[in-house]
Amino acid sequence: MGATPLVDTFGRVHDNLRVSVTDRCNIRCFYCMPGEEVRYAPHGEILSFEEMAQFVRIATGLGVTKVRITGGEPLVRKDLEVFVRLVAAIPGIRDLALTTNGVLLAEQAGALYEAGLRRVNIHLDTLSRERFLRITRRDNFHRVMKGIETVQRLGFGPIKINTVAVKNLVEPDIVPLARFGREQGIEIRYIEFMPLDAQGLWDRSKVLLADDILTMLESEIGPLDPVDNADPRASATEYRFRDGKGGVGFIAPVSRPFCLNCNRIRLTADGKLRYCLFALEETDVKGLLRSGAPEEEIAAVVREVVRQKWLGHEINSTQFVAPPRPMHSIGG
Ligand code: 5AD
Ligand code: SF4
Repeated sequence: MGATPLVDTFGRVHDNLRVSVTDRCNIRCFYCMPGEEVRYAPHGEILSFEEMAQFVRIATGLGVTKVRITGGEPLVRKDLEVFVRLVAAIPGIRDLALTTNGVLLAEQAGALYEAGLRRVNIHLDTLSRERFLRITRRDNFHRVMKGIETVQRLGFGPIKINTVAVKNLVEPDIVPLARFGREQGIEIRYIEFMPLDAQGLWDRSKVLLADDILTMLESEIGPLDPVDNADPRASATEYRFRDGKGGVGFIAPVSRPFCLNCNRIRLTADGKLRYCLFALEETDVKGLLRSGAPEEEIAAVVREVVRQKWLGHEINSTQFVAPPRPMHSIGG
């Protein structure tokens, strides 16, 4: 298939596809999900594993080499290892990773490993059971910790933890999480709270900024140095502790927007293609997949979506308009 890479009008090459396999979740993080009455897409609207894998295959023909499986919570989708095996077998995939809240990981990690998965990011905001309950509205802290232990024991790697940085909430956890990461050989990645929550609670004053976290870590643990050979197109900026013991990362869409380096496209569970987490428009590919459209036609649609991509989100502008879908239905 077409050898020319997926380049947008700003010269950004897109080699990274995020596939949301479900919009469902088994917990209710307030910065993502509403508390009650979650509106999920009906089952019939959700792509099958075969449809998703076909899309991944088409995308690899356009230069995509990295795939991340996201949700909702991907592990609530039955038999996820079947999808992992399908994707892992696609020639051209060099990097396959999963983002999960970890609640079901202890039970499923073995099957996922066998299917070929090695890289996991686990979402965890706190080491306190009480704060976990407050943030996620579910009492699952111990299950997540068990999930983390399980992936470590099975030899997954690298393992990362995603922590959403919300002001006046997670400050007590910032340093303990970094210490935990140093002990366990896990990188903690602090993600600035983004305006993607279902309830519209976000405002700039609720974001705990990367620089503030950096200051906390340096004063409590020790100096951090930026990693300068890091992939310039990664969304996280990475730092290492000067004492050589581990490091942390920051995903700072609010204080250090990385749109200029963006290399991602996203497929939602209901088969829409998005050029940005914050995009206000999206393009249906499910209809094409289901009608048996020729792969060249679907590839042309992918190219067109990338061609339409905007320069970046405007979180910091008064013009900012949040996308109509909350995080769980886009896929992080
Ligand atoms: N802001 C920042 N990060 C978020 N996530 C979910 N909602 C938000 C938000 N509003 C993160 C979670 C999850 C990842 C996919 O996105 O940490 O792991
Ligand atoms: Fe579920 Fe992830 Fe959203 Fe939390 S952030 S409610 S774990 S989908």
